[in-house]
Amino acid sequence: MTVPKLALTDSDPTTAAADTVVIGTVQGADGLALADGAAAVDAAFDGKLVELLETLGATGKAEEVVKLPSAGKLTAALVVAVGVGAPNDEGTVTAEQVRRAAGAAARSLNGTVRVLNTLGELDLSAAVEGHLLGGYTFTEYKSEKADEKAAKVEFTSVAGAKDKATKAKLKAATAIAEAVITARDFVNTPPNDLFPASFAERAKKLGEAAGLDVEVLDEKALRKGGYGGILGVGGGSARKPRLVRLSYKGPKARKKVALVGKGITFDTGGISIKPAGEMHHMTSDMAGAAAVIATVVLAAKLKYPLEVVATVPMAENMPGGESYRPGDVLTFLGGKTCEVQNTDAEGRLILADAMVRACQDGPDYLVDTATLTGAQVVALGKRTAGVMGTDEFRDRVAALGRGVGEYAWAMPLPEELRADLNSNVADLANITGHRWGGMLSAGIFLREFVAEGVQWAHVDVAGPAFNSGGAWGYTTKGGTGTPVRTLAAVLADIAENG
Ligand code: BES
Ligand code: MN
Ligand code: ZN
Repeated sequence: MTVPKLALTDSDPTTAAADTVVIGTVQGADGLALADGAAAVDAAFDGKLVELLETLGATGKAEEVVKLPSAGKLTAALVVAVGVGAPNDEGTVTAEQVRRAAGAAARSLNGTVRVLNTLGELDLSAAVEGHLLGGYTFTEYKSEKADEKAAKVEFTSVAGAKDKATKAKLKAATAIAEAVITARDFVNTPPNDLFPASFAERAKKLGEAAGLDVEVLDEKALRKGGYGGILGVGGGSARKPRLVRLSYKGPKARKKVALVGKGITFDTGGISIKPAGEMHHMTSDMAGAAAVIATVVLAAKLKYPLEVVATVPMAENMPGGESYRPGDVLTFLGGKTCEVQNTDAEGRLILADAMVRACQDGPDYLVDTATLTGAQVVALGKRTAGVMGTDEFRDRVAALGRGVGEYAWAMPLPEELRADLNSNVADLANITGHRWGGMLSAGIFLREFVAEGVQWAHVDVAGPAFNSGGAWGYTTKGGTGTPVRTLAAVLADIAENG
């Protein structure tokens, strides 16, 4: 989609050259109240804005949108009052409250060209991210495209428009939102257009444009390299698999971070085929890949003082005469073998190769992310990612995710499940043969491929990566771009604290 042009402004919201002014409302102890940033608009309404909004039914509750014609009291014709929800005991609202309010407001603006947004006075970064993400549309495949007029959005901020730190905030928040949008676009692109070769090509273009080193291994190179997992899973499709590596080396890189993302461009289940019901959602089975590609590009844009390498296995899991079978034994990069008992547990097989490859670079940290298990959704629901891995880093990643409003929860890797992955013929099997703790046994499987001494986090986003319900906050339908903001927060945190 075309991202609107964003700017900071010092202009008075009542006289600014805008069509719509966005203000925040809150659920105060005594009912509806105006959020910071709304004072000038209130003054233009002779201090009667609360009264007017109450007449329209406004309460200030989260994501409530109430529209009020300005009736000549402002240059803008329309005031959009969006609910931020209840402040905490200290009277402040969280970044996530602002992000969601900005998202809800943006979703209600459809087509407005010039917007003045006062939510930046609550939290500029959150307002910018929420606005860009809530306003996201994907109309690539509609005969009627979204309005391509690049909208112009100006944000007021407490520090004003000239402040250096404020400008830097706008820039960083815009880059982060753009990375999320990149991931959403990948996820929303249908599998007939996004298959391993075309996905690799798009990733390469994007990476090179950002100054990254990009390496693409095609089927022949994968065979030569010994990537048995990727080749096994990808074998059933006429569209052969790829492995893409995108490398960024920042100035004065302090740490090496490896990112790995599952890139199944479509998951039919293979010979262990899925029921038809919701199979079309499996167009999102490359959301982990999309997220790590977008994140390494972001790392270059924001010049993190890190070395970041994304290793991205891409394959289509299809049934066919050349498919891998239940009963096959695959040999991964590095030599470990696996008995395939279910071809629908394919994500871990392509990740195994990719994680071994990623560990060959000797990273300090490894974060892999994948739409890996239905069990994640059963355990934690559609909005909360499951995070497994080495104890300390796992907890750090989960906390950082929650900090940016991408819910995440640390999950254990119960030791007794390892034996359930034993195989009679190979080093391990790809499933346990029972339904207990399916998210965790997938994590235990992946642990086998993490090199000694590497701090590791595995983020299962089977639920959070794809919104099959209605839009909420700044989360639109379809691809959500999760966990790009978690990964960005992890990189920023490692850059700062090692
Ligand atoms: N891509 C699916 C997991 C998934 C399910 C993602 C629902 C998003 C929503 C994965 O490849 C899969 O099929 N996993 C199986 C594993 C099982 C065979 C051990 C599952 O979860 O059923
Ligand atoms: Mn599957
Ligand atoms: Zn899958």
